[in-house]
Amino acid sequence: MPDTHILNLIEVRLMSEIDEIKSRLDVVDVVSEKVPLQRAGRNYKANCPFHNEKTPSFIVDPGRQSWRCFGSCAIGGDVFSFVMKTENMEFSDALKLLAQRAGVELRGQETSKSRDSYFEINKITQDFYKDSLFTNEAQVARKYLESRGVAQGSVEDFAIGYSPRGGESLKSHLLFHEVDLEKAIECGVINRLNDGRTRDFFWGRLMFPIFDRSGRPVGFGARSLDESMPKYINTPSTPIFDKRSTLYGFHMARDAIRENDLGVIVEGYMDAIAAHEHGHRNVVASMGTALTPQQVRHLKNLAGTFVLALDQDVAGQEATLRSLESAWQIFGESTKRSQDPLFSGNPIKINVVSLPEGKDPDEFIRSDGSDWEKVVDNALPLLEYLIPVVSGRFDLGVPGGKGRVVESLAPIFRLLDPFDKERYIAMLAEKLSSSVETVVTALNQIPRQYSGKTLKKLENPALHERSNLNIESYREEHTLALILKYPELRDVAADVNPECFTRIEDREIYLKWLELDLEASLVEFIDPVLKERLTKVQAHNILESTTVDLWEDFNFCIRKLESDRLKRYSTNFAESQDDKLPSSEVVNAINDLNKKIMEIDASDR
Ligand code: UTP
Ligand code: MN
Repeated sequence: MPDTHILNLIEVRLMSEIDEIKSRLDVVDVVSEKVPLQRAGRNYKANCPFHNEKTPSFIVDPGRQSWRCFGSCAIGGDVFSFVMKTENMEFSDALKLLAQRAGVELRGQETSKSRDSYFEINKITQDFYKDSLFTNEAQVARKYLESRGVAQGSVEDFAIGYSPRGGESLKSHLLFHEVDLEKAIECGVINRLNDGRTRDFFWGRLMFPIFDRSGRPVGFGARSLDESMPKYINTPSTPIFDKRSTLYGFHMARDAIRENDLGVIVEGYMDAIAAHEHGHRNVVASMGTALTPQQVRHLKNLAGTFVLALDQDVAGQEATLRSLESAWQIFGESTKRSQDPLFSGNPIKINVVSLPEGKDPDEFIRSDGSDWEKVVDNALPLLEYLIPVVSGRFDLGVPGGKGRVVESLAPIFRLLDPFDKERYIAMLAEKLSSSVETVVTALNQIPRQYSGKTLKKLENPALHERSNLNIESYREEHTLALILKYPELRDVAADVNPECFTRIEDREIYLKWLELDLEASLVEFIDPVLKERLTKVQAHNILESTTVDLWEDFNFCIRKLESDRLKRYSTNFAESQDDKLPSSEVVNAINDLNKKIMEIDASDR
C-alpha cells in the first residue's frame, strides 16, 4: 500500500531521539555489562540482578529488545528502564547516559540544563547552610541540636544547616558563585520584595534540606530556633519541588523499606531523623500533611506492610480520614498489580501505631528503654485503630451521633473485602451498642462520593483504523490521550499496569500523571525530555461522535493493552522455565495466562 509506505518514511524521518538511541544500542550489550548472560535459544538468561535467586528467571529478548524477571520481582522493560533500575536513575539521567553511549545528541538539552541548574543552586545553598552551622552566629543552632539529642552523624547524613540572619549572606554567596538570582528566586531560596529588592528567603533558622528520590536537594524545611511562628517554613512550590509529592528521607529509606518488606511513615523531620539515627532506616516523613496520593505512589511497590505513626489529635479528623481512604485505595491498586499475572500478591496492610502518652516518634525513640520495633510490630490494623478513635469524636448519645460515626468511616469500609468488612462491622456495632443489621443499613444508606460517571460520546478508534501499520502503537497513544484528557477516567486508569505502555516515554508520562494531582498541570512537572512526546499525545486527535461512548472506548483500549501485555509476557515465560521440567504450578500458570488472554480477546467486538 503506497499510503503505508509514505507513513513509514515519515515515521523514520521523525524518529525521536529516544528511538534513535534504541536503534543504535543493543539491550543485550547493555545488560551483559551488569549481568553475565547465558544463551537460551533465541534469548539470554541470567540470575535476576534485582532479587536473590538460585535458578535464572531473568530473560533478555534481543528480538523485542526487552528484558524481564519472571521470578519474584516480576518486572520488565527496555534498555532505558534497565539502566534506570540498575543505576537507580530517573528517566532523564538514563536518557543522557545512553544518548552519550549511542552518540546521539539530545536537542532537549537546553531545557533539561535549566532544570539541572535548579538542583545546582539548591546544592550550593545546602552547602552554604551547612558551613554556616559552624559560625559564631549559629551557636544557638548547635546548642539546639544538642538539646534535642541529635547526633553529629545525623547532622551530616541529613545535611542539617543554618541560615544566617540579615538577609544578604546567601545572596552574596550565590552571586559569588555566579548564580543567576532570577533562578534562585524560582528555586525559592531568594525572595523578591515588593519594592524589587532581593533578600534571602530563610533567616536565622535550622535548615533541613529535602531530597528527591535520587538524593538531589529540591527544597528546604526551616525550623525556628525560638518560639517564633510558624515553627517551620518550607520552600514553596517550585519547578522541582512539590511538598505534596515528596517524602522526607525517602532516598535514604527506600532500600530498607524493601529489605524489611515494611515501611513506616511519620509526620515530622525530627521524627525521621531520630528513627534513622537509631538504626530504623525504613522510616520516611510525610512532612506534616495528611498522606497524599502522590506520596503513597512512591511507596506502594516497595513493601507489603506500611505503618503510620499518626498524631493522636488528628487521627479521627475528616482530612486525615480522607487521606487514609485515598492512601488505602492507592495501596490497593498495587495489590492488583502484583498479581502480575501469576504471582498473587497479598493485599498491602496498613497499620497504625499509637505511642504511649501521646509522645511523638522523636521523643519516644530518644527516650530510655523504649522499644520502637516492638511498637511498630504491635501497630493495629487501620480500622481496629480508627473505630474507637472516630467513635470517641462524636457524642453517641445524641440523635444522629452514631450516624456521624458510620458516615465518617463509610468510605474506608467500602474498600474492605467482604470478610474483613463482616469483622469490622461487628466491631463497629459493638462499639456503637447497635445491632449488626442496623450498622449495615446505615452504611448502605450513605451515598457514594462521586455518582454516575458522565458519558461522553466518542468515536472508537478501532472502527476507524487507518492501516494496520501500527495499530498497537496507535492504540497506546490513543489510550494515553484519553487518560490525559478525561479526568473522569482517573479511577479506572490508575489501575492500568504501567507495563501496558511499551514506549518508555509513554510509561513515564503515565507514571508522572499517576503521581500528580488532577489539577496539576502535567506539562509543568514533566521532565523536559518527555515534553515532545507529551505534546504529541495531547495533540492526538480524539474524534467526537455519537456512536461510541468514552467509557466503552476506554475500556476496549485498556483491555487490548492488557491482552497485548500478557501476550508479550507469555512469549518469554515458557523460556524462563526451560531448565526445569515444568511443574504443575507452572503449567497451571500458563493455562491461566492463556485463559486470561482469550477472555479479553473474546470480549472484543
Ligand atoms: P511537628 O510539629 O510534629 O514537627 O510537625 P517536628 O518535626 O516533630 O518538629 P519538632 O519536634 O517540634 O521540632 C510535623 C511536620 O509538619 C510540618 C513539618 O514538616 C514538620 O516536620 N510542619 C509543621 C510545617 O511544615 N510547618 C509547621 O509550622 C509545622
Ligand atoms: Mn516533634
